[in-house]
Amino acid sequence: MKIAILPGDGIGTEIVAQAVNVLNALGQKFEMETAPVGGAGYEAHGHPLPDGTLKLAKEADAILFGAVGDWKYDTLERSLRPEQAILGLRKHLTLFANFRPAILYPELVGASTLKPEAVSGLDILIIRELNGDIYFGQPRGMREAPDGPFKGAREGFDTMRYSEPEIRRIAHVAFKAAQKRGKRLTSVDKANVLETFQFWKDIVTDVHKEYPDIELDHMYVDNAAMQLVRAPKKFDVIVTGNMFGDILSDAAAMLTGSIGMLPSASLDANSKGLYEPSHGSAPDIAGKGVANPLATILSAAMMLRFSLNLPAEADRIEKAVKHVLAQGLRTPDIYESGTTKVGTAEMGSAVVKALA
Ligand code: IPM
Ligand code: MG
Repeated sequence: MKIAILPGDGIGTEIVAQAVNVLNALGQKFEMETAPVGGAGYEAHGHPLPDGTLKLAKEADAILFGAVGDWKYDTLERSLRPEQAILGLRKHLTLFANFRPAILYPELVGASTLKPEAVSGLDILIIRELNGDIYFGQPRGMREAPDGPFKGAREGFDTMRYSEPEIRRIAHVAFKAAQKRGKRLTSVDKANVLETFQFWKDIVTDVHKEYPDIELDHMYVDNAAMQLVRAPKKFDVIVTGNMFGDILSDAAAMLTGSIGMLPSASLDANSKGLYEPSHGSAPDIAGKGVANPLATILSAAMMLRFSLNLPAEADRIEKAVKHVLAQGLRTPDIYESGTTKVGTAEMGSAVVKALA
């Protein structure tokens, strides 16, 4: 089994190193090959997603990804910015189904900014479509406004669009995921304003006919944002488009105390996937050895379960993570008084130790 290791930028290298240590401690034979991506790809080969990196990602059975981005690349033309690496991988490999679980570990209930009674026991799954929507819709650009009250003025524009097959395939993924959980699915849209999302709602409603065992409801995205911080436990599985999913999954992450705890999987139709923490490259704390490696370690567990068919090993990692939390070890992002503050490497080593 071949795993492409793409650490990327900022804290990416530090947290991926810990996840690799954990994988190596499982006693399985993985072939791992590392390649630069994001700002690191740009520095090494002049492009955020160098050809060699894309080739490796294509031929691997799974991809473990750190994070990309740094302010110092903000002035580069868009096609050369680090974010293009992750967008390019999602598109080139047709990784259209993004799973972002938000689980609150009982030990971290005090780390959430919400009241314990609102979040304790939280276990929700956001499924975000990753290949369409305003993220990729054409045309887009900057131009002179061709019409309207500001005709002739400079404007920026993007195109929101979703095709029927795109909505159908993510809807099937979401209904199937709901079948394995609490059998409830909330489809999030903005059908009251946007044609794209009226269409989304109609198609999801149609796909629902094939899943009579699932309770489906529809929610506008503004209300969903509110419900996520008001009564998040009411949700089971949420399915939504690329842009709304980007925003709601960050909000959901904070329910769990720290975005440093949240893994994610981006899958194609054959369960090949890219696994990455839900957080970014955090250049402000890069190189300080304080980043939380648990989201990446938990992403490696998702990789074993979804792409490499090693569910027992995935369980072992998840149990080891629970164990280190129960031991009271905390990186600064989840630290509370009475617990033990540790750095990135110490946290990773503790997980490796707990595996045994
Ligand atoms: C995410 C990130 C990316 C996105 C960025 C880095 C392009 O925010 O994975 O949520 O917007 O999808
Ligand atoms: Mg995001």
